[in-house]
Amino acid sequence: MRSPAASEVARRRTLVDDNLLRFIGGDVCRIPDRLREAMEYSLTAGGKRIRPVVLLSSGSAVGGDEEELLPFACAVEYVHTYSLIHDDLPAMDDDDFRRGRASSHKAFGEAAAILAGDALLTEAFRVMGESRLAGEHPGRALAAVAVLARAAGAEGMVGGQQLDLLAERSNTGGPEKNEIDLRKTSALLSAAAGMGGILGGGTPAQVTALGRYGTALGLLFQVTDDILDETGSFEEMGKGVAKDRARGKPTYPVVFGMEAAVARAERLSREALSTLSSFGDEGDALRTIVQLVAARRT
Ligand code: IPE
Ligand code: IPE
Ligand code: MG
Ligand code: MG
Ligand code: MG
Repeated sequence: MRSPAASEVARRRTLVDDNLLRFIGGDVCRIPDRLREAMEYSLTAGGKRIRPVVLLSSGSAVGGDEEELLPFACAVEYVHTYSLIHDDLPAMDDDDFRRGRASSHKAFGEAAAILAGDALLTEAFRVMGESRLAGEHPGRALAAVAVLARAAGAEGMVGGQQLDLLAERSNTGGPEKNEIDLRKTSALLSAAAGMGGILGGGTPAQVTALGRYGTALGLLFQVTDDILDETGSFEEMGKGVAKDRARGKPTYPVVFGMEAAVARAERLSREALSTLSSFGDEGDALRTIVQLVAARRT
C-alpha cells in the first residue's frame, strides 16, 4: 500500500497533468495551429512531472495554497519541456525519441520544434505574470520569477547545456562533470524547490534549505539519468538509451565506472534527505520524491 506521502505525490502529479494545458492560450486562442500542436504534443507526451511536483510539495511544506502555486508549477514544466525539445535537436544531442514518442523535430520538423521550445519558454513567464498570486503577493511572485530566470538562463541550465556540448569527446574529469550537472539539471530543480518556498511564504531559512534540497535532488537525478542510459530500456525510459557513451558524453559511469556512480547516487540521496532536517511531517512528500528519484527506472 502507498504511504500517505506517496499518495500526495501521485495526486500532485495528476493535478499537474490535468492543468498543464489550461494556462496556455485562453478563450480566444491566437496561437497558430501548427505551433499549438507542437507545444501540446510535447506537453501531453507524458513525463514524470518531477519539477512541478517538487514546487507544489515545497510550497505546501511551508503552508502555501496549491491552487495559487499551480501556474508557477506548470511554468516550470513548460521551461523543462522546452529544454528537452531543444536538447533533442540534431545540433544538440540528436535524439529521435522522447517521452515514448518521436521527438519534436522528428514529428514537426526542426523549425517548428525550435519555435515550440521558444514559445513554451516565453509562455512560462507570461503565465506567472498573469497569475492570481502575482496580484496578491507581487513581491513573492517577482522573487520567484527571478529565481526561475536565473536558474534557466545563461549561467544556469542554458550554460550547463553549453558546457555539456563542449565536454563531448573531451577528457572531462569529476569537478567539471559536477559543474555541468549543477547547471544543466540541478539549477531547475533547485529553482522549483526554492520557488515553492518563496511563493508559499516560507522563512529565508526554509527557502535556503529547500534550495539545497533541490540542488542535491538534481545531482541525484542526473547521475540516475546517466546510469539509466546504460542500464535502462527504451520501453521504460521512453527515449533512446546507450547513447551517451557512443556520443562521448562524460557521464559518471563513463568517467568513474558504474560502481562509483551507484555509490554517488546513494550519497546524494542521503544528502537530499539531510537538507530537510528542519521539516517535520510536512516534508514527507519531499522525502518521498528523493526515494522515487533514487529508485526510478523511467
Ligand atoms: C530528462 O528529464 C532530462 C534530464 C534533466 C536528465 P526527466 O527525466 O525529468 O524527463 P521527463 O519530464 O520525465 O520526460
Ligand atoms: C538534459 O540532459 C538536460 C536538459 C535538457 C537541460 P540529458 O541530455 O542527459 O537528458 P536526456 O538524457 O536527453 O533526457
Ligand atoms: Mg543533453
Ligand atoms: Mg539529451
Ligand atoms: Mg541523459
